[in-house]
Amino acid sequence: MQAVVLVGGEGTRLRPLTYAVPKPMAPLLGRPFIGWIIERLRKAGVNDVILSCCYLPEAIEAYFGNGRRFGVNLDYVFEEEPLGTAGAVKNAVHKVSGTIYVCNGDILTGLDLVALRELHRRRNAIATIHTRTVEDPSQFGVVETDADGRVLRFVEKPKPGETNARDINAGTYVLEPDALDAIPSGRKVSIERETFPHLIAATQRVFAVSTNDYWIDVGRPATYAQAHWDILDGRFEKPAGHEVAQGVWTADGAPVPQGVEVHPPVFLGTDVHIEPGARVGPYAVLYKGCRIGASAAIASSILWQHCVVGRGATVRDGILGLEVVVEPEATVEPNTVAGRGARIRAGVSPSGQKA
Ligand code: GTP
Repeated sequence: MQAVVLVGGEGTRLRPLTYAVPKPMAPLLGRPFIGWIIERLRKAGVNDVILSCCYLPEAIEAYFGNGRRFGVNLDYVFEEEPLGTAGAVKNAVHKVSGTIYVCNGDILTGLDLVALRELHRRRNAIATIHTRTVEDPSQFGVVETDADGRVLRFVEKPKPGETNARDINAGTYVLEPDALDAIPSGRKVSIERETFPHLIAATQRVFAVSTNDYWIDVGRPATYAQAHWDILDGRFEKPAGHEVAQGVWTADGAPVPQGVEVHPPVFLGTDVHIEPGARVGPYAVLYKGCRIGASAAIASSILWQHCVVGRGATVRDGILGLEVVVEPEATVEPNTVAGRGARIRAGVSPSGQKA
């Protein structure tokens, strides 16, 4: 079975991080985010994965190549203009045959893909949508079903009173070739707003499968950080690295640096240099090549590759993009999301304005 993974979105909610790095390549504990999706597909027996690219595709292709290093055959399709979530699948139609999986490229989930496909087959569905139940569906696409799981309608971001349903589209689908035939070519098409409503009306063979597996949409800074904490807390799979002390992971098995106060959970990429006397964690993730000065303190924060934190500086509740510099003695404001190369000075926010 083949899978199409949608990785073409601009990731606007993760800006400024995504100005430099497309969301699918955002690091997550030892591999780029879509590395987790590819690994799950591989484990479910999917050998052929097509990445449907649009925004910053070079970074994705340069890293994953033909996929052999990751145990799958990877192929790519490219859009000049965004074709939307169904248009992007249609754009890959010449590369697929038979029943396929379609995965949003920003969902981390423990969903059992084989079981999803099996239910799809038993119900003779044209499309099966993975859903999950949430308390407040007002920010999501809600999927209304009958008692048999047959989808009756979609309600996008419902207003109070518009629907009683609380099952939301969780971004993984199984689609039959007939479903792909129903998507118009060469223009922008949304799978939620156009394709599924059309298939529901035309076939009544769209089904939903609701599960309560681990699931998170990493598309916002808070949820991207939460995915890190969930993995470090053992709520999903293990980080891609080595646990060198309880709750302390390093990408390459390097030992915990001497003289550093380490409070688990912590993840350190390769070539991270931390001066003695620094305090790291709890919940600190320092990716490849980060340099941390003496007496600096980092907690509840994620530092992308090659950040430099000066001596005595404090980083708490922040996400720092590539090559961010925190000057000595500076304090990064909580909830800062800093873009590539930002420079954070004492008392000044990363945009250069007074905090
Ligand atoms: P935001 O701009 O922050 O909403 O993020 P996004 O651009 O990723 O949009 P959204 O979260 O709605 O997209 C869901 C999934 O579909 C993500 O994996 C996107 O990469 C992907 N996606 C969205 N639009 C397109 C598109 O036009 N083409 C392709 N190939 N993928 C898309």
